[in-house]
Amino acid sequence: MIDLRSDTVTKPSKAMRQAMASAEVDDDVLGHDPTVEKLEQRTADILGKDAALFVPSGTMANQVALKTHTVPGDEVIMEAQCHMYWYEVGAPAAISGVMCRLIEGNGGLFTGDDVRSAVRPADVHFPRTTLVCVEDTHNRGGGTVWPIEQIADVAAAARGAGLKLHLDGARLWNAAVASGVNEAAHARYFDSVAVCYSKALGAPVGSALAGDVDFIAEAKRFRKMFGGGMRQAGIIAAGALYGLENNRDRLAEDHANAKALAEGLAEIDGIEIDPAAVETNLVYFRVTAMPAGQLVERLADEGVALLGGNGSLRAVTSLMVTRADIEHTLRATATILKG
Ligand SMILES: Cc1ncc(COP(=O)(O)O)c(C=O)c1O
Repeated sequence: MIDLRSDTVTKPSKAMRQAMASAEVDDDVLGHDPTVEKLEQRTADILGKDAALFVPSGTMANQVALKTHTVPGDEVIMEAQCHMYWYEVGAPAAISGVMCRLIEGNGGLFTGDDVRSAVRPADVHFPRTTLVCVEDTHNRGGGTVWPIEQIADVAAAARGAGLKLHLDGARLWNAAVASGVNEAAHARYFDSVAVCYSKALGAPVGSALAGDVDFIAEAKRFRKMFGGGMRQAGIIAAGALYGLENNRDRLAEDHANAKALAEGLAEIDGIEIDPAAVETNLVYFRVTAMPAGQLVERLADEGVALLGGNGSLRAVTSLMVTRADIEHTLRATATILKG
């Protein structure tokens, strides 16, 4: 099966499994697992932060950050299509008791002026606005990369209003490769940064939250409260570390494959897509020639798995997908839509 459903479907390579099998471990909850510590330090260094905390998932990284930055009743500014709002099971309300103030962005991106107009003035009737969240790359926005100047603009508006900033950088590795601007240069505008090893980097499990020492100490308490304290976590941290050291530089290949897929799809009658909008490894398109669900079923018969819904489809490239797979997918799609 050519699996284009997500970059989360990647399976650990033999070398990654070997690194995991031979990882040195101890009890991280009791305070020390050498491999987890190595991963946390390396991640903090790449992100230009003081410290990092290994967590089981991107959702936990984001929600621990939210809990650490806010108190119940606060208002948090985020983009209307962002993962924290759409796909984290209502956790901002359920766990942190915060309100989400949504900005309608453009491909998931918004501006400093958007932030200024969303911030609540001090008034006894209003919630306190305390945090702005940014997603880079933006998943539902189509894998869009935030230009550094636009991050700086949003950060200046947030700082001017006394707000903290959190970055959902589940795919920050992709943003860095696509923009040629390294992770730390993106991360420096934010008080906290969430990153995932389990997506483009190909690790089976794991994410991290980075920030300053005091923030991470507090976040560690909430990780434990959320049930995210893990004992011999070095086993999975070793997979994450392997991905970090070996699979970051190759992401340009995934982006080139995504672009080739988008350009090929644009040539097929019955598909609507703007290939110029594909900046990283996520390819969203619409099917006009048949119901999208039907195309998904027919492609499955041809050995291609996609995720669909709501008229639009998503194909994601990863280290599991080769250029030959892209060519097969394009041939199969063209044949199905012609027939
Ligand atoms: C932008 C973004 N943030 C956070 C997450 C959550 O990651 P996890 O599935 O590890 O909880 C995802 C998952 O796809 C994502 O795309």
